[in-house]
Amino acid sequence: MRIDKFLSNLKYGSRKEIKQLLRAHEVKINLKRVIDPATSIDPNKELVFIDGEQVFYKESIDIMIYKPVGYLSANHDSMHSVITSLIQAPYDRFDFSIAGRLDLDAEGLLILTTDGNFAHHIMHPKKHIEKTYEVMLDKPFVHHQALLNGIFVKDGYNDEYFAKAIAIKKNKEYVTIIIDEGKFHQVKRMFQAVGYEVLRLKRTRIGNLELKDLKPGEYKEFERKDLE
Ligand code: URA
Repeated sequence: MRIDKFLSNLKYGSRKEIKQLLRAHEVKINLKRVIDPATSIDPNKELVFIDGEQVFYKESIDIMIYKPVGYLSANHDSMHSVITSLIQAPYDRFDFSIAGRLDLDAEGLLILTTDGNFAHHIMHPKKHIEKTYEVMLDKPFVHHQALLNGIFVKDGYNDEYFAKAIAIKKNKEYVTIIIDEGKFHQVKRMFQAVGYEVLRLKRTRIGNLELKDLKPGEYKEFERKDLE
């Protein structure tokens, strides 16, 4: 890859601005100063420094984040705060895909990754990755058997599908439910189908990744082997 493309991908400026940066600042690949924007670099093997400071780079970055209520699972929005606005240096120079959205009024574990294929892989319906949700309903829950047997609900395209809970634990209106799909508003619609409204919804687990001690807005990198 060319050094100007590398730095421009990391949001150091347009190709034209990188050309100026290379002249005005000391940009080094390992120990060697570079001026020519066409100089090639292997970012997986070589280090880049700008005025002595190392440029942070990783081929792919996988992050688990605690989405707070009121944040949109998106990269840009004109009305609401978006989840990626919580990402700070050095990760904020990267573009993240969101694997499995949470509703605006929902909170909990969300996966962000710079690798679009990985995001796709996590969300693929055939993968059946388990997710745990803790919900608060509008009244004490007694219809657990119906959700364990399965019920028909509508997806985001208004097509009916058969949704089934893998496990349910309940304590009055507080319910923990495990499902292995991720259709549009799935948890809310499953409870709605048996006559309940979800007042609060928190995702606490995706595969083997658990929210655990992350606080709202906090995030950390994870290893792919810890997901499945
Ligand atoms: N199911 C929902 O209804 N909402 C979410 O945000 C996630 C799962």
